[in-house]
Amino acid sequence: MKLNNHSLSFRWINCQCFEFKLPNGKTIITDPCYDYPENPEDRIADIFRLRGFHTEDLEACDYVILNHTHSDHMVNLEDVIRRFQPIVICHSGVAAQIAEVYGDILPLTSIYAVDYNGRYEFDGFVLHTYHGMHKPQRMMWDGCMSKADGISQQEKLKRLHTLGSLFNMNFIIDLDNGFRMAFVGGLDDGMAHILEDKRPNIAFRNKLTNGMDVDVVSDDWVSFMTEAHAQIVVPMHFEVWENMDPGFSEKTFIEANRKAEEKGLTARVAPVKRTEWYEITLSMQSR
Ligand SMILES: [Fe+2]
Repeated sequence: MKLNNHSLSFRWINCQCFEFKLPNGKTIITDPCYDYPENPEDRIADIFRLRGFHTEDLEACDYVILNHTHSDHMVNLEDVIRRFQPIVICHSGVAAQIAEVYGDILPLTSIYAVDYNGRYEFDGFVLHTYHGMHKPQRMMWDGCMSKADGISQQEKLKRLHTLGSLFNMNFIIDLDNGFRMAFVGGLDDGMAHILEDKRPNIAFRNKLTNGMDVDVVSDDWVSFMTEAHAQIVVPMHFEVWENMDPGFSEKTFIEANRKAEEKGLTARVAPVKRTEWYEITLSMQSR
C-alpha cells in the first residue's frame, strides 16, 4: 500500500519571489522581482537580477502577497497584474499607494489590505500576519523620495519604495490540508516566539547577512533552524550570493546541515535552485 497526499509545490524565482501552488490549485506569488532594465549608473542593481526570467514564465497567480515594497520586492508587480489580474494582499500602510500607482490596471477591490496580528480567510488558505522589521539601512525619507530607485528607475514607484522601509509584514499560511508555512522577511522581531508557538512545517527566511564566510553564515542559518521549529527551512533572497559567487550558498547550506545534525536539530536547510519546482508530499506506505 502506498498513499501520497500533496501538501505544497513551490519554486524560488529570485529575491523573495516565490510561486506557490496550493493543494486546491490556487497559486500565490510573493514579492515579484526578477528581470528589469539595465541601469549603467547603478551596478548594484545587477546583483539582484535574474536574467532571462520573464512574467510569461510564471505559470499562474491568483494572489500576490507583499512582505514589503522596496523595488527588489515589487519591481515586476505591474507585469504580474497585467498578466493575471490577481488579488494583491499588502499591508494597509501601502494599500492606497498601490491603488494609485496601478490605478489604470488594478481594480480597487482587487487590493486586499491587511494589518498586523490579523487572521484572513482565502480560498485554500488562512493568512496570519505579523509585524516585521527591515534590517537597518541608512535610507532617510528625503533622500529616498528625491529620485527613483536604482532597480526600478521608475519615478512612480518612488513612494512605494520609500514606504518599503516603514512597513514590513511577516506571515504564516495555514493550508486547507493542515500544512503550515511561515514567511520571515527580515529581522527576528519577535518571530522566534511566534514560530515556537506555531511550529510551521516549513519556514522561508531572508538571509540576514551579505557576508561571504561559510562558517559565520552557516552559524546564522543554524540559529534560525533552532528557532524556526520547522522541519524544512528554505532560504530566500540569496541571489546576491548566487550572482557574485556561485557555489558559496550551496557550500554554506551543506555546512549548516552538518552543524544541525551534530547539534541534534531535526530541521534542515533546503539548498533550493532558482526556478526549479519542488513538491512536498506526505506519503504513507506499508513496510
Ligand atoms: Fe528591502
